[in-house]
Amino acid sequence: MVIFSGIQPTGTKHLGNYIGAITQYVAAQERGNPAIFCIVDLHAITVEYDPQQLREKTYDTAALLIAAGLDPEGCILFRQSDVHEHTELCWLLVAVTAVGELNRMHQFRDKSVQQRQLVSAGLLLYPVLQAADVLAYQADEVPVGEDQREHLELMRDIAERFNGRFGPVLTVPKQRIPDVGARVRDLQEPERKMSTTGGTEQGTVYVLDEPAAISRKFKRAVTDSGTDIVRRDDKPGITNLIEVMAVARGITPDAVEAEYAGGRYGDFKKATAEAVVDYLEPVRERYTDLRADESALEAMLQAGAAKARVIASATLADVCDAMGVGPRSS
Ligand code: AMP
Ligand code: TRP
Repeated sequence: MVIFSGIQPTGTKHLGNYIGAITQYVAAQERGNPAIFCIVDLHAITVEYDPQQLREKTYDTAALLIAAGLDPEGCILFRQSDVHEHTELCWLLVAVTAVGELNRMHQFRDKSVQQRQLVSAGLLLYPVLQAADVLAYQADEVPVGEDQREHLELMRDIAERFNGRFGPVLTVPKQRIPDVGARVRDLQEPERKMSTTGGTEQGTVYVLDEPAAISRKFKRAVTDSGTDIVRRDDKPGITNLIEVMAVARGITPDAVEAEYAGGRYGDFKKATAEAVVDYLEPVRERYTDLRADESALEAMLQAGAAKARVIASATLADVCDAMGVGPRSS
């Protein structure tokens, strides 16, 4: 089974990215043949960004993924812009993409209202490039967090429409969204997802936060006026903490509820903070060493791109052939 996912080199990765996506990538290395992970720098240029920082952040993200457990020997880890087949395939796929569908995407709507200078066409086409990322590898499965559901549905539509019009060339991928932790919430505003751009600073726990910062953020987490430590729709704050603790300790949310039944919110928040500190501390330590050697990271990304290109170029050739683009293949 081919597994593919992408992650943006923007912002600082937070607990939502870690639980919703990165831990799934690490687990996918066992099942994927191959497991492919792409740092999507070309997606990052669709909103205002700092060109000076884009390369740096790509290295930050690469180091973080390896620190979290991706093994460059056991998976394919690369930078999107190194494999030009992604942008070529994106252009070919726009032929079977409806503009109305792109216009209706929630992420486009949310991000376009945040743009002050310019709502770029790149922001509108973002999901087509995302479809190209996955379809270029004929991926069967795409591990992502809950917020990517709509993009994955569009990607399936694009693949199906392509196959309907030009013949059965593209694999229609399935999403894989975790049962627990698919939508980690902001600790201050638990009705919102944890997010670098849309969340609160105090409610966002970064993977590389110092233990003291993690403890402070959990201690101040917003809960509710009740006392029960149970998951319920009207208790988004407590529900979030239960799920975070379950993932951090590798147990089920039911086990967390049983352990803390009758407990106090204050103690529970403190215990959650401790579990998260223990969970993230080894990642932060490994990150510092890995990030220090930029040329090793660059060499690793180049080696990954060489492996990726072999697969993506074969798909692109089939797509061009089916679409009548370029010379006839032999
Ligand atoms: P991004 O940093 O936007 O490229 O997101 C990387 C991955 O993290 C994607 O698979 C997202 O679905 C996932 N993700 C982002 N925010 C959250 C969150 N609050 N909870 C769970 N998963 C998330
Ligand atoms: N849009 C995704 C996000 O914001 C990142 C992404 C780009 C992606 N290409 C992808 C995710 C391909 C999965 C598969 O998180």
